[in-house]
Amino acid sequence: MAYKDEKLNEEKVFKDPVHRYVHVRDRVIWDLIGTPEFQRLRRVKQLGTSYTTFHGAEHSRFNHSLGVYEIVRRIINNFENRPNWNEDERLLCLAAALLHDLGHGPFSHSFEKVFKLDHEDFTRKIILGDTGVNAILRRVDDNFPHKVAEVINKTYENKLVVSLISSQIDADRMDYLQRDAYFTGVSYGHFDMERILRVMRPMEDQVVVKESGMHAVEDYIMSRYQMYWQVYFHPVTRSAEVILTKILHRAKELYENQYSFYLEPYHFTSFFAGEVDLQDYLKLDENVVMYYFQIWKDEIDPVLSDLCKRFVDRHLFKYVEFNPNQQMSEWMELHKLFQKAGIDPDYYLVVDSSSDLPYDFYRPGEEGERLPIHLLRPNGELKELSRQSDIVESISGKKRTDHKLYFPKDLIEGLSNRSKTKKRILEILYG
Ligand code: NI
Repeated sequence: MAYKDEKLNEEKVFKDPVHRYVHVRDRVIWDLIGTPEFQRLRRVKQLGTSYTTFHGAEHSRFNHSLGVYEIVRRIINNFENRPNWNEDERLLCLAAALLHDLGHGPFSHSFEKVFKLDHEDFTRKIILGDTGVNAILRRVDDNFPHKVAEVINKTYENKLVVSLISSQIDADRMDYLQRDAYFTGVSYGHFDMERILRVMRPMEDQVVVKESGMHAVEDYIMSRYQMYWQVYFHPVTRSAEVILTKILHRAKELYENQYSFYLEPYHFTSFFAGEVDLQDYLKLDENVVMYYFQIWKDEIDPVLSDLCKRFVDRHLFKYVEFNPNQQMSEWMELHKLFQKAGIDPDYYLVVDSSSDLPYDFYRPGEEGERLPIHLLRPNGELKELSRQSDIVESISGKKRTDHKLYFPKDLIEGLSNRSKTKKRILEILYG
């Protein structure tokens, strides 16, 4: 039997708190899960620094990747024998779902920002490069790794396959909303996925939802909206992320200035130098990063040491609402006051902005254009979701942004009470 058609003698099941069970029958999928590159995802948290706010949020990208695989598996099980569905795409969909986040590194968001990396780029490199994952995909056929990379990259010719994994209602989002809700313990993020899966239909170039499932989809859109503001952009989580980002900046700066580290940052040097190859990338997971931070708490450099203590011991920066575009003069004054007080504003005075667009209708050609969700009416006609749903219409195309200013309140309070600088800083921050 061809490798691509091989089934396990007995189905394997993973117990999963969100989907109850994840089912694996295909030999190829089972072998992919066993590769070191996929196992590495156990050591990368799905929500980065969110555990500093929601202590339950320690789940990994491994959990999530299996979940996305399971959702796609259930969707295409329902597609069997329907028009527009080609059973030959089955294994491709499952492999792409399983591997879609393969290139995520430790605390992706901050690492990408500081070292100008792109996790999607690494996903491609792992799939196409000299790795265990590539060897398995190639056994299916020589062109298979390339096809999987194309689906994840959204350039694959069959857009129906792409839309299962990345669209405004895809398996990726359906998994992470429920999973993140479960592990953070919040009451948002829940919606009736079973209902949505039952009414999904394959069309030529996209997945659509029968009109009768509209309210379940509304619920999904609203839960996404609430999860962004209640969980993903939580200001305390962002405080930890700000500190993490500053640690990486500081370590890089020290390295460039030939500072002699108590623990040489071997695992980081190619990141500092801006020439990260795949092998270096795969070696750096969150366990390794936390090991360095723990050791760097005792570095001679006061800034690196202080920032690492803050991160490891969760002694975070405080924050206030602050819009730098409208409060330019306060921003400049604070900068000067911090310098005067001996608190380096490059590391201790940080503006962070988050913004989200919860749902968007189709704007062809515009930057970040997204395919809208289409409802399938009983007469076979397609209608864009926000034209049918008043609830979705009310948040469609509306981008919301939140700006915060982060600073170490403890250091400011530690300044002498007679200091005019201290008085003025607190006046600007707290009015
Ligand atoms: Ni994902």
